Amino acid sequence: MNSNFKFFPQSVTAHPGENVIIIVYNIKNVEGADERIKDFCDNFSAYMRSMLNRFPNSEFSATIGFGAKAWQRFFTSIGIPKELEEFKPISGGAHTAVSTPGDLIFHIRANQMGYCHEFATIIEMKLGDVVEAIDETHGFRYMDGKAIIGFVDGTENPNVDLNPFDFAMIGDEDPVFKGGSYLFVQKYIHDMSGWNKLPVEEQEKVIGRHKFNDVELTDEEKPINAHNKVTNIEDADGNELKIVRANIPFANTSTHEYGTYFIGYARSFSTTRKMLENMFIGDPIGNTDRLLDFSTPVTGTLFFTPSYDLLGQMSGE
Ligand code: HEM
Repeated sequence: MNSNFKFFPQSVTAHPGENVIIIVYNIKNVEGADERIKDFCDNFSAYMRSMLNRFPNSEFSATIGFGAKAWQRFFTSIGIPKELEEFKPISGGAHTAVSTPGDLIFHIRANQMGYCHEFATIIEMKLGDVVEAIDETHGFRYMDGKAIIGFVDGTENPNVDLNPFDFAMIGDEDPVFKGGSYLFVQKYIHDMSGWNKLPVEEQEKVIGRHKFNDVELTDEEKPINAHNKVTNIEDADGNELKIVRANIPFANTSTHEYGTYFIGYARSFSTTRKMLENMFIGDPIGNTDRLLDFSTPVTGTLFFTPSYDLLGQMSGE
C-alpha cells in the first residue's frame, strides 16, 4: 500500500441536504463491468471536484458505497472491513427489518435538485449499461427539517457538542479502513392515515419529542417504547453510542405514498444494529418501537463507504 496513505474521508458528515437522490444498484453480469466501475471509482474524486468547481454554492456532496459482495469483488487485495457483511434481517415477530440486495449506493445531496440530477446523469452516462437500479428515491427537506410524519428529524445527531467524526468514521481500530464508514439504509413507508388519526399528544409519545417545537419529553412523560428511548443506547461503561443520521422524507401525494429514507453512517455497524434490534425485537424483548406500528421498511442494505485513498486502490480483480 502506498506510503502517502492519508485516509481522506468521503463527505459522510455533510449537511443532511435540502435535496437528495439516493440510488442503489446491482452490477450486471456483463463483460467489462468491473473495468468500467473501477474506472469510475478512479475518477470519482475528479467528478466531485468538477461539480464543486462548476457549482461552488451548491452545497453539493456525494458518497459512493459498496455492498459486501461487491467489496470482495473489487478490493480483494485489501481485505474486508471488520463489520462488513450482507445485512441479516432482524425480526421480532410483529415487525421485520428486511434485507435487500445492493452492490453500489450513491448518496447525492445539494441545495437544489438540479445539481443532484446533474450528478445522477453523470453516473448513468458512465455506468448505465453495466448496472441495474434496485431503488432510486428522491427526497427533499421538509419545512424545518421534519420527517414526513411531522417531527423534526436529526436533532440528536452528534453535530453540536460532539464530534461527528468520532461516531461516523473508523479510526485506528481497523487501520486499513480508517476514514471509512458503515452506511446502512432502509426505505420506510408510513401508514399516514393511521398516523394522522393519532392525537398529537399520542404522536409525541411515539417519537419522544414535542411536535411544534422539537423539545424532548421529560423522562416521566416518555414511554419506554418511544422511538428516541429505544434508539438511545450506551456502551458497557455508560458512554452514549451514536451514529450520524441523514434521513430524508419523500412523498407522492396522489398515490398516497409517504416515506422516510433512513440513512445512517456509523463508525461500527454493531452500533446501528443494536439500535435496530432495540426497535424490532425490543430490550426487554417485546418492547418494540411504537414508530414501527406506522412505519414498514421495504429495503435494508449495508454498505461501506471507503476513504478516497482506498477508493483509488481498487484492485478490480
Ligand atoms: C421510520 C423511520 C424513522 C423516522 C421517521 C425517524 C425519525 C426520528 C425522529 C423524528 C427523531 C427525533 C429527533 C432526533 O433526535 O433526530 C429520531 C431520533 C433518533 N432516531 Fe430515528 N427515525 C427513523 C428510523 C430510525 C432508525 C432505523 C434508527 C437506527 C437504526 C434511528 C435512530 C435514531 C436515533 C439514534 C435517534 C436519537 C435518539 C436520542 O434522542 O438519543 N431512527 N428519529
